[in-house]
Amino acid sequence: MTRAFTRRRFLGTALAGAGAAGGLLLAGCGGVPASAPRPAPVPRPLTIPPLAPSTREGGVRTFTLTAAPGRSAFLAGADTPTWGYDQPFGGPTLRAARGERVRVHVTNRLPETTTTHWHGMVLPAAMDGGPHQPIRPGATWSPEWTIEQPAATLWYHPHPHGHTERHVHRGLAGLFLVDDEDGPATALPHRYGVDDIPVVVTDRVFTATGAFDETRRNAHGLVGDTLLVNGTVAPYLTATTARIRLRLLNASPARCYRFARSDGRPLVLAGTDSGLLAAPRPVPDVLLTPGERAEVLLDLDPGRPVVLRSLPQDLGAVSGTERSIGALDTLDVLQIRPAAVLAPAPPLPGALPHEPGPDPAAATTVRRFALGNDTINGKAMDMTRIDEVVPAGATELWELTNVHSRPHNLHVHDARGQVVAAGGHPVPPELRSWKDTVYVPPRTTTRVLLRFGRHADPGTPYMYHCHLLYHEDQGMMGQFVVAPPGVADVPRVLAGGHHG
Ligand code: C2O
Ligand code: CU
Ligand code: CU
Repeated sequence: MTRAFTRRRFLGTALAGAGAAGGLLLAGCGGVPASAPRPAPVPRPLTIPPLAPSTREGGVRTFTLTAAPGRSAFLAGADTPTWGYDQPFGGPTLRAARGERVRVHVTNRLPETTTTHWHGMVLPAAMDGGPHQPIRPGATWSPEWTIEQPAATLWYHPHPHGHTERHVHRGLAGLFLVDDEDGPATALPHRYGVDDIPVVVTDRVFTATGAFDETRRNAHGLVGDTLLVNGTVAPYLTATTARIRLRLLNASPARCYRFARSDGRPLVLAGTDSGLLAAPRPVPDVLLTPGERAEVLLDLDPGRPVVLRSLPQDLGAVSGTERSIGALDTLDVLQIRPAAVLAPAPPLPGALPHEPGPDPAAATTVRRFALGNDTINGKAMDMTRIDEVVPAGATELWELTNVHSRPHNLHVHDARGQVVAAGGHPVPPELRSWKDTVYVPPRTTTRVLLRFGRHADPGTPYMYHCHLLYHEDQGMMGQFVVAPPGVADVPRVLAGGHHG
């Protein structure tokens, strides 16, 4: 059945694509739904999301965000209905330092209930913005917490159970940068929008009228043939410094990216999801599945353009699956156009402010999770069921096995950790890095050593889930609560429709 289905899909798409000659952004993407034919886009300057303004209210850095519908002009002559925070699509970049207390007033001007989740943040469960913190139309939700984690590129997006993919796909997503004041972070490029560049990558299919196509889903969810980078189609960046730092976020519902330079030079990896590496490390490419981030450094030559590309990926699945998730595609992500004269870069720092990884000996529990077809450990998400109870501040080993034939990843709220083994091979300590979302290829096991937050609240769950958003919506999600250490008698059933 799978074979026949895949073949029919492929042929159908190939036929549909035949009429779209000349105008497509990429070739050879059979398996991914194609946008309506259109002229090749004219490159545009990369949009840089504005830094969100904040005020100080009694020592609390306070932001406001309003989620609302809008209209965007991604394509020449087309008007695209979108959703955004404080702007028609996407959202401003929030920025705060470790140790700061922050508050965000989030107002919902959408026609339906949403939530706002702080992906990667270690914080009390009632502030997490998962499915148990709904914001009804017209309402304002005002979470407040203290930033207690090192410098990292985090992000925020909706998390209403069953509707996350649609809300994110319409445009709701933004970055949340954590600065760490005591570290010499200045050794890295750090001038936002100048040499420290947000790169939020997502993909869409456009209909003939220029709308986002949210009807043609495949087994992975919504996979698109057109990239939007910070909301810009075919973006270019004019660089003025000999080194730039790109903060890459895969904000796609399902598509994965293998980022690399078009000139064959390595990328220099400086950070992953939830923290910096011990030292910058040259790598040929960086694979990011949905929800993952990486900070990379690029050294540039005056006047010599280079393209940040996404290259074909081996996701460990059969070829029909790889084709339909877009893993065979080569895509231009961002053209970089260095000026004729560049401000010089200092030598690469030999070390970065870095928190040593969790000690494997400190792990008190091993938990096993089987990632299946719309389930975890054979169960679909239930808002009233507590699947796991984790002691506050615990270090645990989570063993994630993809028992399915398709790509899945796993994101854990309120936790930061490091992959210690993948695909049957240990990851040596010097190659580990801080993560909150990890890829688990089909029929393999990934072992991740996780450190959980210290805020106990046995009545309010956090989520763990596949970050392919359609899978999450279909039930590939579970709930855990953080309990005070030593407290075992935590209720495993929440009162129906509990909302924090
Ligand atoms: Cu980025 Cu639970 O999500
Ligand atoms: Cu999250
Ligand atoms: Cu999945």
